[in-house]
Amino acid sequence: MRRVTISLLTTLGAIVAGDAGAADATGESTYQSSCVACHGADGVGVLPGVPDLTTTDGPLALADELLVKRVADGFQSPGSPMAMPPRGGNPTLSDEDLKAVVDYMRKEFGVR
Ligand code: HEC
Repeated sequence: MRRVTISLLTTLGAIVAGDAGAADATGESTYQSSCVACHGADGVGVLPGVPDLTTTDGPLALADELLVKRVADGFQSPGSPMAMPPRGGNPTLSDEDLKAVVDYMRKEFGVR
C-alpha cells in the first residue's frame, strides 16, 4: 500500500511539474515529451528525413559528445528534407537532460 501511495505521489508530482526540463526529468520522460513525435516509439523515425536510430551504422554509431552537441544546436545533413531542431524544439531541456536522453536512445534503440 505504501508503495502504491508513493508511486501515485510521484506520478502526481510529475504531472504538477509538467515540464520536461524539470530537474527530475529522465531520459525516457524527455524522449516521450520532446523526441517521440519525430523519432517514434521504436526509434525508426516517423517523418521523412528522420534517421533510423536502430541500424548499426546509423547516427547512434557516433560519439556521445557529437550527438549531444548536434541535439543541442540542431543539425541538418546535406540534402536532408528536414532539420533536427535545437533541443528537439524544447529550449527548457538542459545539457544534462540531453545527455540522459541520448543514453536512453542508446539503451532503447542502439546497437546492443
Ligand atoms: C521536429 C522533428 C524532430 C524532433 C522533435 C526531434 N528530432 Fe532528432 N532529428 C530529426 C531529424 C529530421 C533528424 C535528421 C537531421 C538530418 O540528418 O538532416 C534528427 C536527427 C537526430 C539525431 C542524429 C543526429 C546525427 O548526428 O545524425 C539524434 C541523436 C536526434 N535527432 C535526437 C533527438 C532528440 C534527443 C530529440 C528530443 C530531445 C529529438 N531528436 C527531437 C527530427 C526531430
